[in-house]
Amino acid sequence: MTMIAQQVTELLAKMTLREKVGQLTQCGNSIYNDDYKIGWELLRQGRIGSLLGIGEVEQANELQRVAVEETRLGIPLLLGFDVIHGYRTTFPVPWAEACSWEPELARATAAASTREAAANGVNWIYAPMIDVSRDPRWGRGVEGAGEDPYLVGRFAEARVKGIQGETLSDGWHAAACAKHFVAYGAAIGGKDYNSVDLAPQTVHDVYLPPFRAAIDAGAASVMTAFHDLNGEPCTGSHYWITETLRERMGFAGVVISDAGSTDQLKVHGYTADDRDTAKTALLAGLDVEMCFGIFTYQEHLEALVREGAVPVDTLDAAVRRVLTLKYELGLFEHPYRDVKMAAAALGGDGSRKLAREAARRSVVLLKNQDVLPLKKTQRMAVIGPLADDREEMLGTWSGVGRAEEAVSPWDALKTRANASHAKGCQAVEPSPALFAEAVQLAQNSEVAVVFVGEPRSMNGEGKSRTSNTLPGVQLELLEKLKATGTPLVVVVIGGRPLVLTRVAELADALLFSGALGVEAGQAYADVILGEYNSSAKLVNTFPTVVGQAPLYYNHNNTGKPPVEEFFWTSKYLDAPIKPLFPFGYGLSYSRFTYANLALSQTAATGTEVIEVRVDVTNTSAVDGEEIVQLYITDPVASLVRPVKELKGFAKVFLRAGEMKTVTLKLPLQSTGFHNRKLEYVVEKGKLLISVGTNSADTISQALMIV
Ligand code: GLC
Repeated sequence: MTMIAQQVTELLAKMTLREKVGQLTQCGNSIYNDDYKIGWELLRQGRIGSLLGIGEVEQANELQRVAVEETRLGIPLLLGFDVIHGYRTTFPVPWAEACSWEPELARATAAASTREAAANGVNWIYAPMIDVSRDPRWGRGVEGAGEDPYLVGRFAEARVKGIQGETLSDGWHAAACAKHFVAYGAAIGGKDYNSVDLAPQTVHDVYLPPFRAAIDAGAASVMTAFHDLNGEPCTGSHYWITETLRERMGFAGVVISDAGSTDQLKVHGYTADDRDTAKTALLAGLDVEMCFGIFTYQEHLEALVREGAVPVDTLDAAVRRVLTLKYELGLFEHPYRDVKMAAAALGGDGSRKLAREAARRSVVLLKNQDVLPLKKTQRMAVIGPLADDREEMLGTWSGVGRAEEAVSPWDALKTRANASHAKGCQAVEPSPALFAEAVQLAQNSEVAVVFVGEPRSMNGEGKSRTSNTLPGVQLELLEKLKATGTPLVVVVIGGRPLVLTRVAELADALLFSGALGVEAGQAYADVILGEYNSSAKLVNTFPTVVGQAPLYYNHNNTGKPPVEEFFWTSKYLDAPIKPLFPFGYGLSYSRFTYANLALSQTAATGTEVIEVRVDVTNTSAVDGEEIVQLYITDPVASLVRPVKELKGFAKVFLRAGEMKTVTLKLPLQSTGFHNRKLEYVVEKGKLLISVGTNSADTISQALMIV
């Protein structure tokens, strides 16, 4: 038995039933509201084991002191916080950062964010969000890494490692929490919290792989989702939590509910009342109840155990997992944080430098008709509701980030270029009166750089949309600016795959990103002025019209794949067949060509690793980076397979005119799928290997799995 296991056993033996239930109870930061006196009393009675949202080191220390010095057993607290893309230094939102296709960059920003948070008393971080997101109407894709399971998985493992580091107890790291288990992004209609109805094979092939990656990376905890999946609310489902997550996937860590998702079980119609909820959730394998007003565990678990409705061993197993995590975090030895070190850890040049590097690597160039990069001397009109809005640069879930510490595009361009500014319109409220000034400025400028998009209030939790267009009168502003004849560089900031069809027609150059954080303005300026050559690529398919949703590249072929000229094929009467921009799409100031695709073998067994080689040439006069993407297609299988599936990628730097032979390894074991019995199989037969610059533009070779 390990030392920690021994310590936990000894502590558990001393605990009363009430104290055990306390370890499974999390309350919010309302403990600091005056009307929450009971919180402090419950804390002193050892009936609260963790809290959510404590964002100040003084409060963290105060809470820990009460728990350690004023309770009978002195068990320290888990203090959870949503450090989704930064604590005080705000980095690009995860979805934007994923467009870099650089998991190691995400690991670095997760580590930097955790360093700030851990120094300030946070020891449990509710990240990474690893929900595969295929529906552009859903507002939470902004927290994740897009529509592809393989890519989401790479960012899942990177962010877990960044948050947890090598030593959980070093005071600079925290417990990660892979969320939201499972398939939250598949909400019907892209409507947040809505039901999810999926074939079990789809859950196993698309939505579970990122959790596999997070668990393999050592994720200390998992958060269950709000929704019902195939009729079972995730938060109360023994099948999903115990039989799938714990038994099938081998997860041995802590499972926490989402905020109030336990007491919602009765709303789902899955439990009769809060007592039934407490019993169902604990028996399902849920360890910690993240309470949102109703405390079903605290209210009912003691009686349920005394009556034998809940075996004490089940309760003990949950408490053991929570206490184990507290020991692993070193909280019993070091529950407090040094206030001076906490302050010193916040922000700083190192974090801002990393934030700028991450930001400029997250800007996707979608169109460029020989307009970008601009010269500093060009008379530049900087226009748009997001051009000078520092708060909007932070994006949703911005921790304790401060807008005044952010750099807006106008902040950056006014000092780095020959630029003038006009707002042009508000982001959402009707504001036609602002048009005239912007139009006049554009008429008197050589180029107009227009920052438009979705305000962060339209992104994140509970923010689904049915239109996905630019809100307010922003498109009208672009139409008026276009009419001036001045070249338009349009920069769109959004938290979901927006409908940019008309925007792309009006723009002479088009850049897209999610909110880029504190150094957003400098990052946009770096790309616009050519000091950084855009290298990012989309991690979602962008629709031409929102009616195409759900829309993703790795769809099945169907028996009647869409053909423009034939009615009786799978398409819409009133929308084009193709998306506006495919998964993996992004341009550069360089130009890259692919040739000489070669496989190390043309036949191999399903357990071998083959090498895929391709010559990539930078045919331009500009050094640049290219994201080489590797896809497979299984043309004949016992269950139909997607037309393409991403199974590898590499980001390579190529000097002007340089050619490199890029080699990607493909473990053929990774090309399988779950059959009708949910067995993972790699079937014999032909496999198409495709490599290219995005999911729609590839060259292929075949191999046989024998
Ligand atoms: C929210 C979110 C979840 C977050 C939790 C705590 O409802 O769904 O992602 O971690 O509550 O804030």
